[in-house]
Amino acid sequence: MKKCVYLNSAATSFPKPERVLQRVISFIQKPPFHQARAGLEDETVNIVSDCRKELAVLFNVPEPDRLIFTSGATESLNLAFRGLPLAGKHIITTVVEHNSVLRPLKTMERDGLIELDTVACDTNGLVPPESIENAIKPDTFAIVVNHCSNVTGMINDIGAIGQLTKQKNITFIVDASQSAGVYPIDVEQMNIDILVFTGHKSLFGLQGIGGAYIREGINLKPLKIGGTGVRSDYLFQPETVPMFFEAGTLNLPGIVSLNEGVRYIREKGMTNIRKRKEEIVLRLMESLSQYEEVLLYPEKSHRTSLFSFNVAGMEAADIGYMLENNFGIITRSGLHCAPLIHKYIGTFTEGSLRVSPSSFTTDKEIKYFISAIDQIVKKVESK
Ligand SMILES: Cc1ncc(COP(=O)(O)O)c(C=O)c1O
Repeated sequence: MKKCVYLNSAATSFPKPERVLQRVISFIQKPPFHQARAGLEDETVNIVSDCRKELAVLFNVPEPDRLIFTSGATESLNLAFRGLPLAGKHIITTVVEHNSVLRPLKTMERDGLIELDTVACDTNGLVPPESIENAIKPDTFAIVVNHCSNVTGMINDIGAIGQLTKQKNITFIVDASQSAGVYPIDVEQMNIDILVFTGHKSLFGLQGIGGAYIREGINLKPLKIGGTGVRSDYLFQPETVPMFFEAGTLNLPGIVSLNEGVRYIREKGMTNIRKRKEEIVLRLMESLSQYEEVLLYPEKSHRTSLFSFNVAGMEAADIGYMLENNFGIITRSGLHCAPLIHKYIGTFTEGSLRVSPSSFTTDKEIKYFISAIDQIVKKVESK
């Protein structure tokens, strides 16, 4: 394998903790006893329920069975949008959302199914809770908000928005794809009704695993209907959770990885992981802010888990290309599947170069990245 410096953990985290890799290998080396299907009380049953319990602690979910597994945030969001009684209702979302929120909602709006308001953010990508409050109408049914921007890393005030949704009896859906495993999430305190997360980013799982917390009492239809391995004589989807939402064979290697990833976070301490990421980002932003040509998003050095930047006179895609091909540094350029935020932070239409380290990123790698940028910027200056 070609050696590289990987600074694209907001897409998929790398490396994974060693224990995640070992656990997945030992799991797939054994015969695949299917959860609840073979009638065998085996470790698989325990892994699935253990993983729910680990996630329940992480998100302060009162009842682990209210946590369901999906293939990721995209599927969880589709479950929410297709399963909630949204027809004819007013929905609020924000411009900092990922396409996994924007595309389903815009499609429903285009098809005349919902009325949609997309609330603006500030120049750093932060959505003021007052702007959301001002958009609420008497028939607002749901509010969908991204916890952590995958472009600027800014953290929205989910607690304040949750206060509003609770007061007004509005369903509150939070996309925690970038924040889960880094920032505290408490579904009770934040009044979150549906929490959507993905496993392959900061929860250290494999690609293709994720899930959702669905508050008891939320009227949500399943996205998929089919086998559950139990009550096979019953010709309808069993109504009990989590089975109601989990038709078909679960992604067990994914669940194993997620379980081990969340355990790693618990043992390492989420605060320690966050502090390390934020310290790296701050160092990188402070170094880049020395250059007149560099534009940072957020605008000033910030303790975030990721950030973006541009170099005046260069396209983000070209910087990304040079970093990868001349220095072996992996970042990400473009719109990052979040097209609307760029109009507000000043990066439309080209987008930005995103840097998203992991808590495993070393000081040596940070210095190497800074020296690579120094060479790139000096090249621009000398032109
Ligand atoms: C903010 C945000 N939401 C949703 C997603 C979609 O996650 P997944 O592709 O795992 O479904 C991503 C992934 O990049 C994201 O950054």
